[in-house]
Amino acid sequence: MGDSFAETPNAARLASAPHDGQKGGMAVCPGSYDPVTLGHLDIISRAAHVFDHVVVGVVDHPVRKKKTVFTVEERVAFLEAELENLPNVQVKPFDTLLVDFARENGAKAIVKGLRAISDFEYEFEMNQLNRKMAPDIESLYLFSAPQFTFLSSSGVKELATFGGDLNGMVPPRVAARLQEALKRPRTEKI
Ligand code: PNS
Repeated sequence: MGDSFAETPNAARLASAPHDGQKGGMAVCPGSYDPVTLGHLDIISRAAHVFDHVVVGVVDHPVRKKKTVFTVEERVAFLEAELENLPNVQVKPFDTLLVDFARENGAKAIVKGLRAISDFEYEFEMNQLNRKMAPDIESLYLFSAPQFTFLSSSGVKELATFGGDLNGMVPPRVAARLQEALKRPRTEKI
């Protein structure tokens, strides 16, 4: 192999990939969003700033999660309510491979948030799997804003179960519904 970029496998891959000749274009922001957090909303709005259009893909039955607290319709509705001020963002459920969903929507990129080193291993695996199936779709990672690096849907659910304050973590309407769905009654000491 020579020294020129044109001779690298990456250049060959890019040359063979369909290209619409436009920058920006469509991106997919996928996730379970059970429930959506302010960290997710931060990533989606930043993606909407960079791309012409963003489709937020809500996984109907996430493979690695046993059961979701909210149905896919509820998760979509929460996201739609919070994102209604962003005209270039649409929310859609999906129940297929992520790369197939991205292709169906004409997306050239999958955009995800990266919080800490702990996210890296999982995202590294997902990136390799998705790249193998769809080398023409790039996975792009946006670093979380500092105030959201600790925030996760599972952490929020744990706090809600024990009546913790969710202020600054999820939108108020999501906090109310989550508390309602998960709050355990206090057991009285005898
Ligand atoms: O951490 P999340 O929010 O549950 O992530 C969901 C998703 C779809 C972003 C993640 O599982 C992923 O990147 N999957 C790629 C493999 C795939 O297509 N799986 C089928 C949908 S679960």
